[in-house]
Amino acid sequence: MIRMKISAKMKKALNDQVRLEADATNNYLAMASWCEVTGYEGAANYFYSQSDEERTHMLKIVHYLNDMGAIATISATKAPATSHKSLETLIKAALKNEQAVTKAIHKMVEISQRDKDHSTYAFLEWFVNEQVQEETKFETLLQKFDLIGRDKLAINEIDKLLAAQATAVAEPAA
Ligand SMILES: [Fe+2]
Ligand SMILES: [Fe+2]
Repeated sequence: MIRMKISAKMKKALNDQVRLEADATNNYLAMASWCEVTGYEGAANYFYSQSDEERTHMLKIVHYLNDMGAIATISATKAPATSHKSLETLIKAALKNEQAVTKAIHKMVEISQRDKDHSTYAFLEWFVNEQVQEETKFETLLQKFDLIGRDKLAINEIDKLLAAQATAVAEPAA
């Protein structure tokens, strides 16, 4: 076994993040499933892709911990909400989740700075940038409800918009 190259505090924060990303994977999977049974086909595809993306985030951190000799811990995840009032409240919940993840990532950056842990600091840079995009994505989607509307036709338009973005989400190897 290799020597642990990060602090115990950093190890704990990164393992907590593994769980947060696992929570996000499950959360978006549950959202996708709700969209699918509600008839929002585009949104369903979008959130299935989003769920896959979160799993790649989780794996990145698992591999990093193991590479640093810190051993990743896979823990139980929170049960996600199974139903939503509307597509809009679902996207609001997604944005809230991303904002919480951003906070957690920024906290980890601060720990890495205090530790003078340049490796983890550099590793986290990708996540810092990713979170900017994640928040913008959901903020822009929420704007659509104000711009297009909230009646059935408007929701159908937004669903089509999400369908078009679903493939865009799935393509880049995150
Ligand atoms: Fe993530
Ligand atoms: Fe995310």
